[in-house]
Amino acid sequence: MKLLEGKVALITGSSSGIGQGIAKKFAEEGSRVVINYSRSAEGADVTLAMVQEAGSDGIIVQADVTRTEDIRKLIDAAYEKFGALDILVNNAGMEKKAPFTEVLEADYDRVMAVNLRGPFFLTQYFVQKLQTAKMPGRIINISSVHEDMAFPGFTSYCVSKGGMRMFMRNLAVELGPMNITINNIAPGAIQTPINKNLLQDQGKLDALLMNIPLKRLGTTEDIAELAAFLASDKAGYITGSTYVIDGGLMRNYHEQ
Ligand code: BGC
Repeated sequence: MKLLEGKVALITGSSSGIGQGIAKKFAEEGSRVVINYSRSAEGADVTLAMVQEAGSDGIIVQADVTRTEDIRKLIDAAYEKFGALDILVNNAGMEKKAPFTEVLEADYDRVMAVNLRGPFFLTQYFVQKLQTAKMPGRIINISSVHEDMAFPGFTSYCVSKGGMRMFMRNLAVELGPMNITINNIAPGAIQTPINKNLLQDQGKLDALLMNIPLKRLGTTEDIAELAAFLASDKAGYITGSTYVIDGGLMRNYHEQ
């Protein structure tokens, strides 16, 4: 039997990058998938084709996780189409680079809204629906090594990811009695559109690779493998932790 046979999963921001990789992997493991995008309809079409290619079924729902009515639309669509929603992957995220003294309020607000407020209220509605249906559930947040590690020039991003870490820890305690598990995956440098600028700059890329003991960037498959396991029945006793996937980046230390 496949790992996620019979399950239904919603993955936010699954029109590209890590979200798209998770949607593909979940479909390969037998899950039906709610694909979400906020702007890239073409990307979502590509994801749906991947899901169908894997022999599974999916729907595409346009929604901005920062809007309450869109959050309801997303989850209600899963129940309408598939009659259930077992797994939520809070993946949609963004970053905005600026020295601390130059961070604009509007940029700070947007980063926090997408990376933290969105997952907060999407998860709240997901859990309310599970409570009504008396069903167990799985929540996986795609966080970052920067829920723990400093990243100068990205303070609002780090604040949002640090918040996501405590969000996860709190909910592990509060939702455990409902048989709902929650964990974070903390990726390091992965080849995705969020790293577009870095990937185009060989000097910056070489400098980054110096910090990664495994000497390569991660792939979306590297992340999706663990996400599928954490979403499965096999991970039923795992809750309240962060799993780092970074090629050793966080442990890197050298002396001359
Ligand atoms: C960020 C990337 C960064 C990586 C490693 C990720 O969370 O989105 O921009 O390269 O962490 O520092």
